[in-house]
Amino acid sequence: MKQENKENIIIEDIENIIHEKKIIDQIKSILIKKKYCVIKNVIDKEWIKAFKGYLVNIGKNSLPNYKSISPSAPNSHRININDERSYVKGTFHQFVFYPWNQDLFSLFKKTRNIFFLKNLINGIRKDKFLKNRLEDNCTARIAVQFYPSGQGFLNTHIDPIGDHQLTVPMIMMSSKGIDYFSGGGKIITQSNKKIDIDSLCEAGDMILSNASSPHCVDIIDKNLPKPWLEFKGRWIMLFAVNKIDGNDKIKNSKELLA
Ligand SMILES: [Fe+2]
Repeated sequence: MKQENKENIIIEDIENIIHEKKIIDQIKSILIKKKYCVIKNVIDKEWIKAFKGYLVNIGKNSLPNYKSISPSAPNSHRININDERSYVKGTFHQFVFYPWNQDLFSLFKKTRNIFFLKNLINGIRKDKFLKNRLEDNCTARIAVQFYPSGQGFLNTHIDPIGDHQLTVPMIMMSSKGIDYFSGGGKIITQSNKKIDIDSLCEAGDMILSNASSPHCVDIIDKNLPKPWLEFKGRWIMLFAVNKIDGNDKIKNSKELLA
């Protein structure tokens, strides 16, 4: 484990840390202070390439459709092009997976250590929300988001935190400087500094931050637009615990004024 500075840490191995209470506590205290952690090489780059190829085929060859988060919801994909109905305005393509559906990449099995770590940071049962049913009206949910070059963005917002989650771990599925060059994920610190998180990670690395820290995606390659269907731009994978529609105990994500 490297100390990047006295607060933020870079960890080399997720497999070991889920058994190390001391490190989990350290990560938790960093997140509570609204700092961040990077964990290197959590997912193999070749696996990511194959998975992206599969999603590109789905994105190109089937109709996108919004489906609400509900018990036994299907896996699906949708596009959002600055949709007025969204809590947070953005432009992206999203592919969504739930634990109760089968998928060809066995996503929840492949990434279970990520959900275990997320739950252990929260002090809850490590496999909570990973069953084939709801718990506390919430479910684990994997969302892959693609932000196309020339138009992909997400406005500054905060996500709800609570007993269900403190952090929404994010795996980079592309690398800044290779797959795109400008814009991308930013966290706004308490001293109002914008941290370029994409420059800290490459494809396969994971970043953990406090979901209630303001964050955004600045427009990707504003001056290098590409047709959406080329699927060139920024790809990420999010490991969320989401409330189902109608659960009012947990707030919605909230956009902040720029
Ligand atoms: Fe968010």
